[in-house]
Order: sequence, then C-alpha cells, then structure tokens
Amino acid sequence: MDAKVIWMTGLSGAGKTTLAQALVNQLEAAGERVYLLDGDTLRSGLNADLGFSAADRHENVRRIGEVARLFFDQGYIVVVACISPYQQSRMAVRQRIGSAHFLEIYLNTPLSVCESRDPKGLYGKVRRGEISAFTGISAPYQTPQSAELVINTADRPVEQCLNEIHQLLY
Ligand code: PPS
Ligand code: ADP
Ligand code: MG
Repeated sequence: MDAKVIWMTGLSGAGKTTLAQALVNQLEAAGERVYLLDGDTLRSGLNADLGFSAADRHENVRRIGEVARLFFDQGYIVVVACISPYQQSRMAVRQRIGSAHFLEIYLNTPLSVCESRDPKGLYGKVRRGEISAFTGISAPYQTPQSAELVINTADRPVEQCLNEIHQLLY
C-alpha cells in the first residue's frame, strides 16, 4: 500500500487509541511499514512542554503533523490518534502532507458515551473540578468538515469499525 497518513480525531474516550492500535496491528501483520503516533503518548516526551491551551494544542498538532510527514516521506503508513480539536490545525496538516495522501477519520462518538466509558477516569476528575479546559466540556471540539470517514463507535464493535476503515483503504 502507498504511504499515507491516517489521522484519527475525536473526543477523549471516542476510541482513537483503541482503533489506531488495532489498525496498526492489522497492517503490520499484512507486512506493511506502519508507524503509530498517539498524541496522548507523545505528551510524555516530544510534547511534554505543552499543555491544553488553544495555542499549545495548535502547536501539539503541528508537531505531530511534522513527525507524521517525516515518516510519510520515508514511505510509512502513519496512523495518528490525536484529539486535534481545531479545524484549522487539521487543515494545515492536511495541506502539509498533501490531501491525496491524508485520510481524516472522525470518531464522532457522543460525549455521553465517551463519558460513560471514561477509560482513564478523566471525566470523573473533570466533573469533580480537578481538570480544566477539557475537550467537549470546558474546551472546544470543532466538528471536522472534510473527513474521509466518520465512525460512531458507540453502536458498533471494534471489528466493525476496522472493516469500515479497510473499505476506505483498499
Ligand atoms: S490535543 O487536543 O490534540 O492537543 O490533545 P492530544 O495531544 O491528543 O492529547 C489528549 C490526551 O490528553 C489527556 N488530557 C486531556 N485531553 C483533553 N483535554 C484536557 N484538558 C486533557 N488533560 C489531559 C487525555 O488523556 C487525552 O488522551 P485521549 O486518548 O484522547 O483520552
Ligand atoms: P481515546 O484514545 O479516543 O481517548 P480509547 O481508545 O482510549 O479512546 O478508549 C475507548 C474506549 O472505548 C476503550 O475502553 C474501548 O474498549 C471502548 N470501545 C468500545 N467500543 C469501541 C469501538 N467500536 N472502537 C473503539 N473503542 C471502543
Ligand atoms: Mg487515546
């Protein structure tokens, strides 16, 4: 398969990490050169100096886009899992990669479902006032306008979501 950037965007708990990891595992098993960039993970290293202000989120997404571009240029399929809440940031990365090679997947899992999943207990902390500027509650999430695929993970299992992504890729 040609090199490309598969960019998963959505709220915390929408299923980005789960689906991105599952997709990477499948592509690797199929012999593809693939690299995973997870915004949450990168915040412990490359982006450890960034917080959750609008400016820091823009910079976070810009850096992840630049790393994705480096791997893309080396022929990798890059899978990105990143909230990336601003349309402008996502568009800038799309232009940097080239729209023909950029596949935006919007996980439009409703906030209520994300909150009921609460895989890391973050929504609980938000409701107790322990985290501010949280995406979808006290910080914005701008709905993607140009996604190649929209998946609501609320009403379908991981396997079915992967099948939808496969139909986009093959
Ligand atoms: S962004 O908005 O694109 O810069 O975010 P990203 O780099 O993907 O990092 C999101 C992860 O950070 C954790 N976290 C928060 N998310 C949103 N808002 C606030 N205030 C916040 N504080 C911590 C959270 O675990 C996100 O990971 P995911 O995997 O989305 O749950
Ligand atoms: P994010 O990285 O977007 O914050 P996670 O992947 O960490 O999301 O968490 C999503 C949670 O939802 C996990 O506990 C996962 O098992 C669950 N889940 C249920 N159905 C799905 C699905 N179809 N796709 C992805 N995750 C799902
Ligand atoms: Mg995650």
